[in-house]
Amino acid sequence: MSNNYASFLTHPVFKVASQIITEKNLEAYVIGGYVRDLLLERPSKDIDIVVIGNGLDLAKECAERLRVKKVSFFHNFGTAQFKYKDLDVEFVGARKESYRQDSRKPLIENGTLIDDQNRRDFTINAMGLSLHASNFGELIDPFNGVEDLSKGILRTPLDPNTTYSDDPLRMMRAVRFAAQLDFKIEGESLQAIYDNAARLDIISVERIMDECNKIILCAEPSRGFKLLFSTKLLHQFFPEMVDLHGVETIDGKTHKDNFFHTLEVLDNVAKESDNLWLRWAAILHDIAKPPTKKLDREIGWTFHGHEELGARMTPKIFKRLKLPLDHKMKYVEKLVRLHLRPIALVKGSVSDSAIRRLLSEADDDIEDLMTLCNADITSKNEFKVKKYKKNFEMVMEKLKAVEEKDRIRNFQAPVSGELIMQTYNLAPCAEIGSIKARIKEAILEGEIPNEPANAIALMLKIGEELGLKVVKEPTLNK
Ligand code: CTP
Repeated sequence: MSNNYASFLTHPVFKVASQIITEKNLEAYVIGGYVRDLLLERPSKDIDIVVIGNGLDLAKECAERLRVKKVSFFHNFGTAQFKYKDLDVEFVGARKESYRQDSRKPLIENGTLIDDQNRRDFTINAMGLSLHASNFGELIDPFNGVEDLSKGILRTPLDPNTTYSDDPLRMMRAVRFAAQLDFKIEGESLQAIYDNAARLDIISVERIMDECNKIILCAEPSRGFKLLFSTKLLHQFFPEMVDLHGVETIDGKTHKDNFFHTLEVLDNVAKESDNLWLRWAAILHDIAKPPTKKLDREIGWTFHGHEELGARMTPKIFKRLKLPLDHKMKYVEKLVRLHLRPIALVKGSVSDSAIRRLLSEADDDIEDLMTLCNADITSKNEFKVKKYKKNFEMVMEKLKAVEEKDRIRNFQAPVSGELIMQTYNLAPCAEIGSIKARIKEAILEGEIPNEPANAIALMLKIGEELGLKVVKEPTLNK
């Protein structure tokens, strides 16, 4: 394979940068992820250009020639960045870095290209393409990154202990790239991650979770989690998930390994949906199994209430991991709380009222809940899986039929509080809420259809029981 990639460097920023550095007789290279992705034929989100000299000056001049108005300069880091068309372009002066034990913040000196390549995380991320007109597009690959790319190997340019200890986030990146690209982490590197795992404690949880979420969004997230577990990185930031691991056997009674079960569920969900938060619900659905585990001599191992405790653990875990505490967390909490409900329907007999109750609680998340539930049907016993999957289809059909008939989703009370107040000349009070709740109950139980006329009739009956006097006859259009 030729080692000139000029024909691939078609983005206008390369042409302009090349003109400037050639005029000034400077050296600059496209480096890092852009080169890697170009060789892998993957799309890129950003371009990194390393200059032997001052990155800020080149950025300024490139931006002027490209008529880009907004350039951000980070003088402390010697970097500058602007957006051009669809890509972020970042300029940096080549650096030589050395790190201290207690911090990610390196001591930085100006360096040569090889100094800069040495300080990068992986050989596949340390390849450069020259921008100078004399050798435009030439690949500078001192660590054989191309070979590692073709073999699917993640290897550090320097001794892995140095590379990971310099910047422990790279251990998370190693796992992330392994999961994203389906690459193997080379043996010494893997050992170094295991040995340095505790160093993750100097990395902010936001950056750790950034990588973790990228792992979760992979096509087969279990690959990344198995590596996080075996290297003990997972133990550093997510001990609750580690606790799912293991099988206990007492008196011949044994249970599933909930860690591997969770990963199976996560992979199953990943096949159906790219929704990060649905994937989080898969990760957390059984998170409270360890603290609720009990051995019942008659039935075997039980995990009573793990769905409720799991839902309660969700906000705490999200808070600690600095994940969003808004509606996304509420959504995960709700799915964790409800995850057994469809399963109970699948395993048992299905009444319309159970379906209506589920629809009323899940609302617009019912499809996602059913995706989670379907993904949760894992067993070594094929016969069991077949049976549950068949029942699952039945529950899905029934859900559809009941929803069409009763419109329970986003339940709107067929009798408004206003109508109740007008009928009995009441000021706002607790009784109104309780009348509405009793009407909703009756609809969910199937005692009355979800129709205004039936709801009004029931309201009048309840009013009579409560000794309320009708002062204005209720009408249907109110
Ligand atoms: N890099 C590094 N150590 C890090 C982060 C980044 O050595 N902890 C280097 C790598 O050479 C990397 C480049 O900086 O290729 C750019 O980093 P970044 O944009 O974060 O990642 P990419 O490799 O581009 O990959 P992705 O966009 O998928 O995150």
